[in-house]
Amino acid sequence: MTRPWPRRPRLVAGNWKMHKTAPEAAALARELVMLVGGARPRCEIALCPPFPALSAVGEALRGSPLHLGAQNLHPATHGAFTGEVSGLMLAALGCRFVIVGHSERRHGMGENDELVAQKLRAALRDGLTPIVCVGEILAEREADRTAEVLVRQTQAAYAGLDSAAALATVIAYEPVWAIGTGRVATVEQAREAHQILRATLDRVVGQGTAARTGILYGGSVNAANAAALFADEEVDGALVGGASLESASFWRIASAASSATEAG
Ligand code: PGA
Repeated sequence: MTRPWPRRPRLVAGNWKMHKTAPEAAALARELVMLVGGARPRCEIALCPPFPALSAVGEALRGSPLHLGAQNLHPATHGAFTGEVSGLMLAALGCRFVIVGHSERRHGMGENDELVAQKLRAALRDGLTPIVCVGEILAEREADRTAEVLVRQTQAAYAGLDSAAALATVIAYEPVWAIGTGRVATVEQAREAHQILRATLDRVVGQGTAARTGILYGGSVNAANAAALFADEEVDGALVGGASLESASFWRIASAASSATEAG
């Protein structure tokens, strides 16, 4: 099983979604490795390319402090599951992270809370750090049901896990209305959601867990708005979609997270 983080992690992860062929992805990874140079960034940085590019990106990242991550996994280790990929396979490719329960899978591919919980456990079993996505859709926010949704999704994902297991995960609060829309949550909205997640985690898993669990914000994070989000002590980093597809903007976001670590 994955080891718990030694401290509350600060992480910036790029979710490349269904973008970039293997050669394009490797080129972007090489640009980022160049930007890091010899420096050791003060935050963790992960790149999550599509499955066919994992191997090429892993090769490009070799020897660098950047981590490799995947966007999805199947709960089983192997079997008759045509078109699926297991955590075991991802770990064997050098993946450290895997995104679990992204809203595009919950709402676009019919993944429910139960399946997300299975995937979270499979990731831990296979030695991967799951980035567990939760978040409300616009209609839920407008109906004042944000807290209810966040509590339900977190409870379903974490019920039955002990503190050590939970500490080996990262949560990403991703309001669905903010994803790919250019409409970023305010710092207050992010803080409030993260506080709800922390309270739920402590209740479900055990008191004291949340203070040491990293919670990222995701949804229209870019080079211009990242620093303000990271300045809030509830926000431990970001899951970045669109702005991670280009090295300069992603690097500026990662640098903002590094600076926030130094300041904090
Ligand atoms: P976005 O995507 O940054 O393009 O809004 C975030 C995500 O889906 O993880």
